[in-house]
Amino acid sequence: MSDRKQSQPEVSDLEWWQRAVIYQIAPLSFQDSDGDGKGDLPGILRRLPYLEWLGIDVVWLCPIHPSPMLDFGYDITDFCAVDPLFGTLDDFDRLLDEMHVRGLRLLLDFVPNHTSSQHPWFLESRSSRANPRRDWYIWADAGPDGGPPNNWLSRFGGSAWTRDDRTGQYYYHAFLAEQPDLNWRNPEVHAAMAEVLRFWLRRGVDGFRVDASAVLIEDDLLRDDPPDPDYEPGKTPPPQRLLRTFTDDRPEAMECLAMLRAVLDEFPKRVMAGEVQGKTDRIGHFYGDGRPCFHLPLNFALLDTPWDALAVQATIDSYLRALPDQAWPDWVVGGHDKRRAAARIGQAQARVLAMLLLTLPGTPFFFAGDELGMADVPIPPEAVQDPFEKLVPGYGLNRDPERSPMRWDASRNAGFTSGQPYLPMGPDVTERNVARLQQAPRSLLWLYRSLIRFRKSEPALIAGAHQPMRSVDDVLMFMRMHGDSKLMVARNFASAARQIALPGSAELLMSSHLDREPEPLGATVALRADEGVILRLRK
Ligand code: NOJ
Ligand code: MG
Repeated sequence: MSDRKQSQPEVSDLEWWQRAVIYQIAPLSFQDSDGDGKGDLPGILRRLPYLEWLGIDVVWLCPIHPSPMLDFGYDITDFCAVDPLFGTLDDFDRLLDEMHVRGLRLLLDFVPNHTSSQHPWFLESRSSRANPRRDWYIWADAGPDGGPPNNWLSRFGGSAWTRDDRTGQYYYHAFLAEQPDLNWRNPEVHAAMAEVLRFWLRRGVDGFRVDASAVLIEDDLLRDDPPDPDYEPGKTPPPQRLLRTFTDDRPEAMECLAMLRAVLDEFPKRVMAGEVQGKTDRIGHFYGDGRPCFHLPLNFALLDTPWDALAVQATIDSYLRALPDQAWPDWVVGGHDKRRAAARIGQAQARVLAMLLLTLPGTPFFFAGDELGMADVPIPPEAVQDPFEKLVPGYGLNRDPERSPMRWDASRNAGFTSGQPYLPMGPDVTERNVARLQQAPRSLLWLYRSLIRFRKSEPALIAGAHQPMRSVDDVLMFMRMHGDSKLMVARNFASAARQIALPGSAELLMSSHLDREPEPLGATVALRADEGVILRLRK
């Protein structure tokens, strides 16, 4: 009945990224060291002891490159440098060295789809139609009505085309007008971006998270996107008015991604994770059809699923079934573009989520602050920073709430900055911060730490087969098995007690409430409200 028919590897046969727990840091929001209210690289360096205490293995950092910061660093003017806001290249090298000394690894965000409109490449490209870099970006003549070349929409609102008066043509941008798309049909762009990867790989980074990879290439005929039949005016955000048939997930994009992977593979033991078209019917193909592509196409399914045992059971099953043979799964429960899970499902269920994340088959990812149960922080209208919310207001799209800074202790600004934090710290910082939760041995923070340690000590959780069980009565269950070891994990999605029959005699190893000692069990296990348990089944 195992749903993944593979001969079972030993943990030591796996690659490091298959054994790892990956922790996302948005550097602006982690730790400020110079009082400007924005986090930086020396700040992260200072907090490495915390990361070691927590037990994570890998950090992926949102972009750290020079940028006008119109989209929080995803608008880059130099891919091979560090923005002074974050520090210097020396600070970067120091951080990477120190991480490696401590056995931690580092992934950078790689943004191949677009640059800042201030990038020297774009300044050249827009300077004249004859400029050698003209074709590094996507330029087109006006449409027959004198307006944009076609109906394509920017994800951040309005037409995806902006007219440039100097040359009278339009350039394409999947995101902000200040983020022109590179032309991935141009081999010179491939070569330049391959050199960017090599620059960082030579410095020793352990890999990348590739931004917006599904939108690298658009239809070369510029065919109009069709209307989305599910679009409801006033309810659906206007950028979703059309289906992205001709702008998203085009077959040619896979070739570019495979080329990037080949560059990565010039260096031993690196990893490529990617922001992809994550729909269940598409995610599998981002591992590469024929040529290898991503090791870890990011899977956000748990964040997009209604939070009940049956829905989550189905999500796990559909996702695992959608993966090609030998593909390694992954699970992401937070990120800088996503509502915080604790806000959506509540603090009690955030513990159930933690136990789910760290017992599922595949590499777990979470976002700094998830381990504290940080919820979305309310942002008063005058404090909104996110361009998405400014351009498409009123649809709950603001990403500032999940980007509120990390809280370290009960001091001023929770120890994040001695200055003015660039986003509000949130109303509950004095109760919900690292120092406070470290002193509470049953806190969510301790649960994350304990689960990470437990996972490392149990080959079944890292390398073991996953065997689903039928979830009943709001309790989601599955087994993880490796060699002679058989673990059963049961998670109660209800805020009321539940009783579960066991398939044999068992020992309780851990409760998500962190208040039970290991104990032998009879024919059933009693779960309290919102409780998850890990059991060892006897043969
Ligand atoms: C995806 C990133 O995660 C998001 O924050 C950004 O706005 C867009 N890509 C554009 O780079
Ligand atoms: Mg700073």
